[in-house]
Amino acid sequence: MQNRILLITGATDGIGKVAAKALAKKGHTVIIHGRNKNKAQTVCEEIKLETGNDKVDTLIADLFSFTDIKRMTEDFKKKYDRLDVLINNAGAIFSKEREITKDGLEKTMTLNVFSPLLLTELLLDVLVKSPSARIINTSSATHKIATKPDFSDLQLEKNYTPSKAYALSKLYTIWITRHLAIELKDRGFNNITANALHPGAVATRFGQDNDKGFIQNMIFKVALPFMASPEKGAATTVYLATSKEVENVTEKFFGNMKEEKPQDKHYSAEHEKILWDYCMKIIGPYLD
Ligand SMILES: NC(=O)c1ccc[n+]([C@@H]2O[C@H](COP(=O)([O-])OP(=O)(O)OC[C@H]3O[C@@H](n4cnc5c(N)ncnc54)[C@H](OP(=O)(O)O)[C@@H]3O)[C@@H](O)[C@H]2O)c1
Repeated sequence: MQNRILLITGATDGIGKVAAKALAKKGHTVIIHGRNKNKAQTVCEEIKLETGNDKVDTLIADLFSFTDIKRMTEDFKKKYDRLDVLINNAGAIFSKEREITKDGLEKTMTLNVFSPLLLTELLLDVLVKSPSARIINTSSATHKIATKPDFSDLQLEKNYTPSKAYALSKLYTIWITRHLAIELKDRGFNNITANALHPGAVATRFGQDNDKGFIQNMIFKVALPFMASPEKGAATTVYLATSKEVENVTEKFFGNMKEEKPQDKHYSAEHEKILWDYCMKIIGPYLD
């Protein structure tokens, strides 16, 4: 596992930043994705200094913008000819009013579901060049409280609340990861695995800054001191990225560095396929 090339999204803060540091400490080439160039550069320098590893780089893209994601993958390919590990870590819960991106897409679904899938699809040609590549998608234990999906309203135009959108998006992360793992085999990409994880409840900036409504705001503030450290939260991400134990493991869900069974109450292969087709239709125009 020496000299692996890893790209981690949302590595400028929280779990992503700590995971990036741990991976750099192991001597790997670590590419820190951020949306803010200065912040990404500062984190990059901090990690280089603390780990003594000079092979730390940055890539910039706003994950609300599919155009930006596409440009970022082109930037990656100008410098690197293979990718060993893609960690889709960036994610968020949003405010009490439903918000849309410049492209008119609901923000929770965009950041947590559509963008990671687009990034993954656009990087498959470099992942396939790795002797053994891994895709790691970040879900949440909150997927367990997801309400019944409404497949006629996947972007919650009729019935939005921030927690509902977040829980559903993290349930969809698990379904998309499973489907992707099967697709990879079908497309003959036998060297690439895809797994999802939940990091636990972790004390980061997650959910602290936006107005989710009085009760949700209170819950997030009150819970913070009881949450796990970002180091503990990053442990499963680092494990899935580097451990030999999971070398050929695919289509699974992990927590606390162990395989777990996700909540499958709303799951069926048909539901998964509807979701997959919907997401592929959304990102389709950016795949050429
Ligand atoms: N913390 C928890 O308790 C918890 C629990 C379950 C799952 N998770 C999941 O774990 C992952 C990491 O969460 P965290 O707790 O580390 O959150 P965090 O501290 O808020 O960090 C989120 C990261 O994502 C980046 N990001 C957010 N929006 C972005 C956008 N539009 N474009 C590009 N980057 C963007 C942030 O960039 P900036 O630095 O520029 O803000 C930051 O680097 C998320 O997927 C989250 O859903 C967290």
